[in-house]
Amino acid sequence: MTTNENGNYTGKVAFVTGAASGIGRATALAFAREGASVVVADVSEPSNQETARMIEELGGQAIAVKCDVTQAEDVKAALDKTVEAFGRLDFAFNNAGIEPRKAAPTAEYEEEEWNQIIDINLRGVFLCMKHEIPLILKQGRGAIVNTSSGAGIIGIKGSPAYTAAKHGVIGLTKAAALDYAAQNIRVNAVCPGYIDTPMMGRFTGGTDEGRAQVIAEEPVGRMGKPEEIAAAVLWLCSDAAAFVVGHAMVIDGGQTVQ
Ligand code: NAI
Repeated sequence: MTTNENGNYTGKVAFVTGAASGIGRATALAFAREGASVVVADVSEPSNQETARMIEELGGQAIAVKCDVTQAEDVKAALDKTVEAFGRLDFAFNNAGIEPRKAAPTAEYEEEEWNQIIDINLRGVFLCMKHEIPLILKQGRGAIVNTSSGAGIIGIKGSPAYTAAKHGVIGLTKAAALDYAAQNIRVNAVCPGYIDTPMMGRFTGGTDEGRAQVIAEEPVGRMGKPEEIAAAVLWLCSDAAAFVVGHAMVIDGGQTVQ
């Protein structure tokens, strides 16, 4: 599929973190297909450049920027480059995140692991919004979507940091949504279920058995596809969602309904 010159997002600019892989890459491509210019931001440089190349192959416009979302200077520099390259910012998808390395009950959970997960998965979202919002305010309107998780809705045994970070993303989303609703910036979140990405490959060990265990938790009997999250992000950024503010949209095949 090539880009749609008359797409909903023609002339608009989207900033996507964690764009080198999985959900971020699929969403960056989806924005580009709908005509947006896209800035792809990630710590992983070669894969991120590959995302930009994939967008150019579709006939879209993209720049790749190296950005660690825990570093305010990186985030600011990436957004400066966005304005330098494309003149504005309309949409941001704050999606960079890491999975827990090992499960442990709360009292045995390593402080270092706690700090790292909270730093990337929660504080990173705050830092991105802190520097994106002033740019979006200059356009007079725009939308931000933050990536939470099923772990933002329910507790995950053995994963206190990831659960706290993803619950935190929803709280942060609601607070920011109220702060900027009157100024036409809508802030929402997505809560993906098990999505078939490189992260999920690490989580399941990539084995048939590991995958089957995860799929067994999904009432629909399959994992989600990154494109299914991308579709929700694009909808949340669209005018069709003009009245949707501070919402945490669950896209999980029914996993957290049970
Ligand atoms: P992924 O591992 O395939 O992609 C995540 C990307 O984030 C990678 O490219 C990685 O380099 C980047 N990243 C990690 N730390 C970063 C940092 N400090 N600064 C900038 N970039 C950084 O993961 P996936 O599955 O695409 O996940 C994306 C988001 O969705 C994450 O926030 C994850 O927690 C969330 N999520 C994923 C689910 C899944 O089943 N795959 C389920 C629910 C939520």
